[in-house]
Amino acid sequence: MDLVDRPRRLRIDGISEMVRETSLSATDLIAPVFVDATIDERVPIESMPGHERLPVDHTVDRVEEILDTGVESILLFGVPAKKDEVGSRADATDGVVQEATRAISSETSATVITDVCLCEYTDHGHCGVLEESAPEQTTLTVQNDPTLDRLADIAVSHAEAGADVVAPSSMTDGMVGAIRAGLDDAGFNDIPILSYAVKYESAFYGPFRDAADGAPAFGDRRHYQMDPGNRREAIREVDQDVEQGADFLIVKPALPYLDIVRDVREHSTLPVIAYNVSGEYAMIQAAAEKGWLDLEAAAMESLLSIERAGADAIVTYFAEQIAERLD
Ligand code: PBG
Ligand code: ZN
Repeated sequence: MDLVDRPRRLRIDGISEMVRETSLSATDLIAPVFVDATIDERVPIESMPGHERLPVDHTVDRVEEILDTGVESILLFGVPAKKDEVGSRADATDGVVQEATRAISSETSATVITDVCLCEYTDHGHCGVLEESAPEQTTLTVQNDPTLDRLADIAVSHAEAGADVVAPSSMTDGMVGAIRAGLDDAGFNDIPILSYAVKYESAFYGPFRDAADGAPAFGDRRHYQMDPGNRREAIREVDQDVEQGADFLIVKPALPYLDIVRDVREHSTLPVIAYNVSGEYAMIQAAAEKGWLDLEAAAMESLLSIERAGADAIVTYFAEQIAERLD
């Protein structure tokens, strides 16, 4: 055979590793952590095997476990002691995320990223201040502009507690600008904003809503999160957040939206972080439990694909397990 081009020549131990285009490292992985003010021992999250809700006084130990695997960053979510209409506990100095952040940042070397949203703190479970017409009229659930001040206050309270990065996830128009102004006014010019710039209204958030107890009590999030059919709109969202001062961007979910990860990568010079969400984790866990998939191989391939699509880092519930394999 006079075949000149034989790609197989490079698919040999010692060469394939050398020429591999994409590789993962533990420092690319961000582990979500759930702190819960209503419990006094660790409670397993049923739909996310291997994950737990933690009482505040267990968070430092938990974060040490994560750091031992080589993962250096965590994304912190909180379940408050009590919920109300406006989510008062979200920006309380002695709130659950604020207390946990204070402990983690003073006692560990972890990079603490805090989720800035209202859905875990409001009794209605929506990511903002409710519309007057809700819940009777459920297509419009939250008011955009009155939510902005709340988000800025939450971000400032996280920065005061020692957060390294704040990550607004509510898809409120103007959220990055409002938070930037709030942080700057409070003297936190150096705290970066990791914006969930591109967040789709996704069925893959199901397990998370149990974990963080943030399912909407009525209606859905379709008027603030993005329509899964839209691609150009992702670029519009990115432009808006970049203009308002976002330092880096999240695309979420990850695997069903790899085209969007690639689009954002090519459109913006900012770092792109993909969120490999709870449903993506649960699918692989469930298939592996049935013996239908090799858990670690499927997880590794998923994360590699997300980086190949253009992500610089990944928020993932597989962080610890995969980091351990990378070492
Ligand atoms: C809430 C929030 C959600 C997730 C992160 N922050 C859920 C939602 O919008 O309903 C999803 C994370 C996951 O599924 O892993 N603002
Ligand atoms: Zn929310």
